[in-house]
Amino acid sequence: MVATLEFENGDQMPILGLGTWKSSPGDVYKAVKTAIAAGYRHIDCAHIYGNEAEIGRALSESFSEGIVTREQMWITSKLWNDSHAPENVRPALEETLVNLQLDYLDLYLIHWPVAMKKGASFPLTAEKLVSPEVLPILITWSEMEVLADEGLCRHIGVSNFSTAKLQDLLENARLKPEMNQIELHPYLQQPTMLDFCQANTIYLTAYSPLGSSDRPDSLKADDEPVLLENSTIVAIAKQHGVTPAQVLISWAIHRGTAVIPKSVNPARIQQNLAAADLSLTPADIQAIAALDLNRRYVSGDFWQVEGGPYTLAALWDM
Ligand code: A2P
Repeated sequence: MVATLEFENGDQMPILGLGTWKSSPGDVYKAVKTAIAAGYRHIDCAHIYGNEAEIGRALSESFSEGIVTREQMWITSKLWNDSHAPENVRPALEETLVNLQLDYLDLYLIHWPVAMKKGASFPLTAEKLVSPEVLPILITWSEMEVLADEGLCRHIGVSNFSTAKLQDLLENARLKPEMNQIELHPYLQQPTMLDFCQANTIYLTAYSPLGSSDRPDSLKADDEPVLLENSTIVAIAKQHGVTPAQVLISWAIHRGTAVIPKSVNPARIQQNLAAADLSLTPADIQAIAALDLNRRYVSGDFWQVEGGPYTLAALWDM
């Protein structure tokens, strides 16, 4: 049974969802249909993943086949960086809704605290970026608030925000962010962020909970530790008769964070959902706490281009 996180208005977000970053358009339709049939009720999407139309087809079919209702599903998506200008925010959400074949989202997030010019693509250059002085996050956030007011999304939040950037929104925005989706796993435990969000009633969603080893090579370092092969995680999995992935998912749930493991493989989609039934012991939790390396797999260094307005230090407020 998958637990839920309850929002202030009573809405319940299933704590375990299906991630869709890196799921190719060819695979994601089947992955979402498999996941819903298996019992997933939470799908995490984003415009930039380039696969929302296929997810929309899977959702629409699952509704019309009577497998689930729209109300039983929790659907999250994210505003891409090239749509931060006030006039681009609503059209971006509308395009996502058309692609997903939905009338509303459960949760809409600002994907990164980084603004790009409309239509700008990779590889990035300084000219393709817009500085936070020219286009402050608060301006984008005000438009997100209007979308929430109008019910186009039931909740709004952010992704890849530091505690300092969250604090700025808490102090200056009309509606507070209800979610921060960030990279979280035993090698990047972010205890200060966890405490900050608990104290301010902001939920966290853990992305790359399995270490995202299917990331493009350009986002990988040569000496990367492989999370799924960590000897402590492997030993705990053996003790419980489960897989390392299930230990990682259970650990995220144990910390009260939502978690969105990505898979396009039917057996692993099932296996990941079954992790909701695994209980780790206090000794397991203690052993995993000792694994923190403060190590990001998604470092954000791709936003730091020569002569550009973003640095890693400012991105994470280090
Ligand atoms: P696949 O999609 O073929 O199952 P993350 O969620 O951290 O981004 O990690 C996703 C990666 O982990 C993908 O390569 C995915 O492959 C793989 N993966 C997903 N579930 C499992 C699992 N239960 N065991 C091992 N690898 C998994």
